[in-house]
Amino acid sequence: SLEIVEHGTICVSNGIIQSIQRMGKEYSESDSTLPPTTLLEKLGHDDTTTNPPPTIRVIPKNYFLFPGLIDTHIHASQYPNLGIFGKTTLLEWLNKYTFPLEASLTDAVKAKRVYTQCVQRSLQNGTTTAAYYATQSARSTNILADVLISLGQRGFVGRCAMDSDLQPGWYRDGSPESAVADTAACVAYCKEADESGRVRGIITPRFAPSCSREAMSGLGRLLAEGEEDGLLCQTHISENKGEVALVRKLFPECSSYAQVYDVHNLLTPRTVLAHAIYLTEKEIELVKLRQCGVSHCPTSNMALGSGSLWLRRLLDEGVKVGLGTDVSGGYDVNVLEAARMACLVSRGVAEGGKGEGSKISVEEALWLATRGGAQVLGLEGKVGAFEVGMVWDAILVGADEVPVALDCDAAGMFNGVSEKVKKPKIGGKVDFFGWESWEEKVAKWLYSGDDRNVRAVWVGGELVCQK
Ligand code: GUN
Ligand code: FE
Repeated sequence: SLEIVEHGTICVSNGIIQSIQRMGKEYSESDSTLPPTTLLEKLGHDDTTTNPPPTIRVIPKNYFLFPGLIDTHIHASQYPNLGIFGKTTLLEWLNKYTFPLEASLTDAVKAKRVYTQCVQRSLQNGTTTAAYYATQSARSTNILADVLISLGQRGFVGRCAMDSDLQPGWYRDGSPESAVADTAACVAYCKEADESGRVRGIITPRFAPSCSREAMSGLGRLLAEGEEDGLLCQTHISENKGEVALVRKLFPECSSYAQVYDVHNLLTPRTVLAHAIYLTEKEIELVKLRQCGVSHCPTSNMALGSGSLWLRRLLDEGVKVGLGTDVSGGYDVNVLEAARMACLVSRGVAEGGKGEGSKISVEEALWLATRGGAQVLGLEGKVGAFEVGMVWDAILVGADEVPVALDCDAAGMFNGVSEKVKKPKIGGKVDFFGWESWEEKVAKWLYSGDDRNVRAVWVGGELVCQK
């Protein structure tokens, strides 16, 4: 369910939500011109003696604050390939489009450009936390960490471990040992570069067909060693029928795809499994037992023709689920696109025989995009909602002028990294917004909103994007 506070204040200090007040209609807009302390007193806050005096931000009519969106699965390195699939499905798509692009990011200048554009676009769409895959190259992976740190997004940065003979010779780790050592080095790099812990490394065996048993075992050991630090692991599982058949052939000693990861100690409460479309009942039991999270990537699954996840079954089983854009298997960095796709795919699944109860509601989709993602990434109770004690990762959503394009000049926000983005104003002011109930406004935003609706983005209380 979604709690809507029509009139209220949220106090944030040092990036943490200190108080949330629900108010009556006695508050009027002219109150916003009062001196901050007077206004706070009128609003009933006890502590009005802060020094320096608090900054007050009044949210315009028809705007609303929402918890920042959480992308539990995105390949920053694939950003230039958005929308390019040809006639391929997963395995051919990887070889034809994905690996050549990723391999080209050993060029540090290109890597920085690609990652900067991807992370900026992600932030502009309201994503405050994202779990990224970079490339096989440690150097290129560390560049992604630098970009995240400089742009202010919360995130996890994974170097793709991939030492299997199946990988092309021009794009793979040289040995199981180097696959593990390079992963450890990237995790250590983040720890060193960002003491705040906002940007962290994540163990990333690309997927079973890309990895040797030795590499997976080594990464499982790293994961166990990182337990105290809350180190996470991410990979792909059961995305495509051909992939599932390939894993069966490559690992005949294992009874299932999930077991391949399990025997190498890669299934833990800190593991994020992307896709999980074709898991058997036994595998779901195992995933549940190990308390792994699942990243549901419906945009990607539709675009690559991978299949339709029966999401309701996982939710009913109590498996943690969040949403992933899976750029560039997914064609959009916007988590809202994944959220509405989750609604649409669930309708297809329901129609396909799983029944009405399989449909995902607007509120559930938004829960998956926020709280669900936080659970999957081990950030429950920290981000994903507005509660006292949680971190101020938030977006300001405004839809009063949509579908009128806005002037957008994010350049100043990004230390000169970005190019000036100017969008032309088209058309006049439209009565798009304002007459509906708040539930309807939120539904409208979910189904038809885009980056133009995201007017400001905060991470850890810091304004990282404003339009
Ligand atoms: N499986 C292994 N690598 C990838 C990837 O880059 N994208 C997707 N969607 N699936 C994968
Ligand atoms: Fe992926």
